[in-house]
Amino acid sequence: MDDDPATFRERFQQALQFRHACRAFEPGRRVAQEDIEYVLEAGRLSPSSLGLEHWRFVVVQDPASKEALQQACAGQPQVGSASAVVVILAREQDLAPDSEYVATMLRREAPGPAEFASLLDFYRHFAQHNDVTAWSIAQCHIAAANLMTAAAVIGVDSCPIGAFSASAVLDALGITSRADVVALVVALGYREHAPAPKQRLPLSDIVEYR
Ligand SMILES: Cc1cc2nc3c(=O)[nH]c(=O)nc-3n(C[C@H](O)[C@H](O)[C@H](O)COP(=O)(O)O)c2cc1C
Repeated sequence: MDDDPATFRERFQQALQFRHACRAFEPGRRVAQEDIEYVLEAGRLSPSSLGLEHWRFVVVQDPASKEALQQACAGQPQVGSASAVVVILAREQDLAPDSEYVATMLRREAPGPAEFASLLDFYRHFAQHNDVTAWSIAQCHIAAANLMTAAAVIGVDSCPIGAFSASAVLDALGITSRADVVALVVALGYREHAPAPKQRLPLSDIVEYR
């Protein structure tokens, strides 16, 4: 980071203020490929429980596919008018405790075979007693937050879309395998209108120090 820390601190705050759930994108204004990659890189670098990188990103730019996605997202117009729509998929089949994927990923976290065996045991037990799909979707939401903040850093607007029919989204993407589940849809583009002022509870209402 070659920025002066004070400037960096301020820029990050500005990005958080700039980001809003953009409900109308400027028609026809494209987000450049290098900017899409900047945004996706923030998703890739996101933290994930056990380092399992629970996500895949499908970038939709083709107008007919965006239109199909809009229908899958309760007709929300920001999906169709976005320059690009990132569908974040949570890996489902890959996260089965005996999968090759889990073995590969957990091996990265374990310094040797004994640690790997114990981590895998821990994960097997965890997977038996928890809702792995819900847990993976939560990890994907962390990646989504980073995607949207990264977009804001470079002046790209976004809207997270949680109101969707998962099966219709997969159909719109032409995905038939059902190996993954839809975690979140993120529309990207440039705002058509100035956003309404941000509404948030003050820190004093939501923070306790003990
Ligand atoms: C997981 C999630 C799902 C959301 N789903 C939708 C959605 O389907 N449509 C929409 O317009 N906004 C959606 N939003 C945006 C929120 O409504 C918005 O973030 C919130 O009202 C705060 O406004 P702001 O983001 O503009 O500050 C979603 C946000 C999150 C985090």
